[in-house]
Amino acid sequence: MDQKIVLTGIKPTGNPHLGNWVGAIRPAVELSRNPETKGFYFIADYHAMTGLKDAKELREYTYEVASTWIALGLDPSRVVFYRQSDVPEVFELSWILACFSPKGLMNRAHAYKAQVQKNQEAGEEDVDAGVNMGLYTYPILMAADILLMQSHWVPVGSDQQQHVEITRDLAQYFNRQYRKEVFTLPEALIDEAGAVIPGLDGRKMSKSYGNTIPIFAPPEQLRKLVFRIATDSSRPGEPKDPEASTIFQLYRLLATPKQTEALKAEYQNGIAWKDAKEALYTLLDQQLRGPRERYEALMANREELDRLFKEGAEEARAIASKTMHRVRRAIGIS
Ligand code: ADP
Ligand code: TRP
Repeated sequence: MDQKIVLTGIKPTGNPHLGNWVGAIRPAVELSRNPETKGFYFIADYHAMTGLKDAKELREYTYEVASTWIALGLDPSRVVFYRQSDVPEVFELSWILACFSPKGLMNRAHAYKAQVQKNQEAGEEDVDAGVNMGLYTYPILMAADILLMQSHWVPVGSDQQQHVEITRDLAQYFNRQYRKEVFTLPEALIDEAGAVIPGLDGRKMSKSYGNTIPIFAPPEQLRKLVFRIATDSSRPGEPKDPEASTIFQLYRLLATPKQTEALKAEYQNGIAWKDAKEALYTLLDQQLRGPRERYEALMANREELDRLFKEGAEEARAIASKTMHRVRRAIGIS
């Protein structure tokens, strides 16, 4: 049986929240358990550097994100789990791919375009203000991550789809130039449900909106956050629409179908908001207690995480060096 190579990168930007879990971590962990796939899951630390220049934070976030994934069920013995920065072949391939990247392709990449637009709106003289070359060439580094491992499937949020398209373009330019199928063409796997998890204020839960519920918030903080979720002004006894309620949306993500039905009935019976919040807090605390303990144990054992990174890097480099061998032969360097 030919296994499909599944690869995804996780940026270490700190404090993962329920939106990250449900939208990205949970589906990727499920996919990693599928015997028809071989998973490559890595911490994209050099990608984070386009915006993050604090050494202590970068180091800390890397451990936090690694611990989060393992605590939430990723089994590092089933997948290749590594740090991007431990695989120097990524950067070698990145240069080679840069030589195949039309500049215009990077001009159209969404993160760069968003910054240009921001500058224009702010009346900045230089439309490229605040753009470093890391940000500008971000999609090329991502293409190198993907192509190096000959990935078939790349599970990502819809915001990353464009980068996978760029990766396919670069792989095709390369294969065509050298008349060889050196690179596998990857496909983005966008979660069909496409659920957008709402945050405390009802908008999309996102670090940039400051409306998140961190997955591993200690119980007291978790409770406080749940009690801050915005609700309408309906009183106890008045029937409430579960579909319009952030509390219910979050509850249903973690509850069994039976629990969900029960809460729905209580909404129709006019549950008081404080009781709905209490129910959500209780469920979250129950579901997250086990992972939180595993997370804390991992964070207290950096040597174990370092050991996992080292092991993962060796496995990743074994594959990377095979791809690079083919690439160098194709381009005429060896
Ligand atoms: P943030 O918006 O907090 O900065 P990121 O952009 O780092 O989050 O997202 C990391 C991953 O988590 C992406 O795959 C993204 O699609 C997913 N994700 C983030 N927020 C949500 C949300 N509210 N609902 C569903 N998925 C989300
Ligand atoms: N750019 C991705 C993000 O912001 C992270 C990432 C880096 C990635 N390299 C990757 C995702 C390769 C998938 C495949 O979330």
